[in-house]
Amino acid sequence: MGTISADFQDWAGERQQRMENVLLGLLPAAALAPQGLHDAMRYAVLGGGKRVRPLLAFAAGELSGADPERVAIAAAAVELIHAYSLVHDDLPCMDNDVLRRGKPTCHIQYDEATALLVGDSLQTLAFQLLAEHTLNDDPRRQLEMIRLLAQASGSRGMAGGQAIDLASVGQALSLPELEFMHIHKTGALIRAAALLGAHCGAALHDGALDGLNHYAKCIGLAFQVVDDVLDAEASTATLGKTAGKDAEQHKPTYVSLLGAAAARDMAQELHRDAVDALTSFGAKAQRLRDLAAYIVLRQF
Ligand code: IPE
Ligand code: IPE
Ligand code: MG
Ligand code: MG
Ligand code: MG
Repeated sequence: MGTISADFQDWAGERQQRMENVLLGLLPAAALAPQGLHDAMRYAVLGGGKRVRPLLAFAAGELSGADPERVAIAAAAVELIHAYSLVHDDLPCMDNDVLRRGKPTCHIQYDEATALLVGDSLQTLAFQLLAEHTLNDDPRRQLEMIRLLAQASGSRGMAGGQAIDLASVGQALSLPELEFMHIHKTGALIRAAALLGAHCGAALHDGALDGLNHYAKCIGLAFQVVDDVLDAEASTATLGKTAGKDAEQHKPTYVSLLGAAAARDMAQELHRDAVDALTSFGAKAQRLRDLAAYIVLRQF
């Protein structure tokens, strides 16, 4: 179960490159006014990041026979929301980080007001893309995609999870409370990435959609569990962001609650649960299986 297909690197590399090109074309040109804001938006999005959420969208699109050109737009929208969340997460009023994707964070490279506006602008650009490109022949399904991304990003999703994260500093959360926080701050957007990718293609029957949904929930939580482990165990050079910040800032994490070894076990358990949910899809779900393994085995 834990093995990754031999050609996964090629599959992922090809899509990461495609994502870079699509984002490059969708972001406003740096020469366009206001130049400073557009330059900073491009800085925050381009030339970095693992692009895990777009890869999940492409992989889920394979379940429903989605046109990869449509999936690329949905994937770009999710990645723009993610990039915005990182820019705001790094601000002094949140995690106060100076390094992101191996470069100075947006507010260090530019200034805080610019970083705030970069986040605002990336978020609205994401929804503009979902509204102006045809992503499904059925407009009701496209509307559902817009609703899904909005819910995953807002107070019942990522932003809500971030609020809980900030309110939890210095507190010892219980396991269910920690899970609730992680499912929202990180899991929601990861789940949305997979669902949006699938929604670009033919409708999945209810059982299939439930399977994909369960996979995405498990892998979204596992992603943040591994992020917590890496924060504690990996180096700043490997991560491209400041290591050891969670302990320094007294954030409750899976590592602070369970220890790193048990946190890793928990990620493996979620991995198994995620892969089990894909059984009925057969070979079509191989890239989703690869991504589940990649998410728990990754070193950065
Ligand atoms: C980091 O996300 C923030 C979390 C939600 C854990 P990623 O690890 O996906 O960051 P990039 O996009 O690869 O930089
Ligand atoms: C961030 O979680 C989740 C987001 C919504 C951005 P973290 O604060 O742990 O992410 P990193 O470690 O700074 O990337
Ligand atoms: Mg944070
Ligand atoms: Mg952070
Ligand atoms: Mg972290």
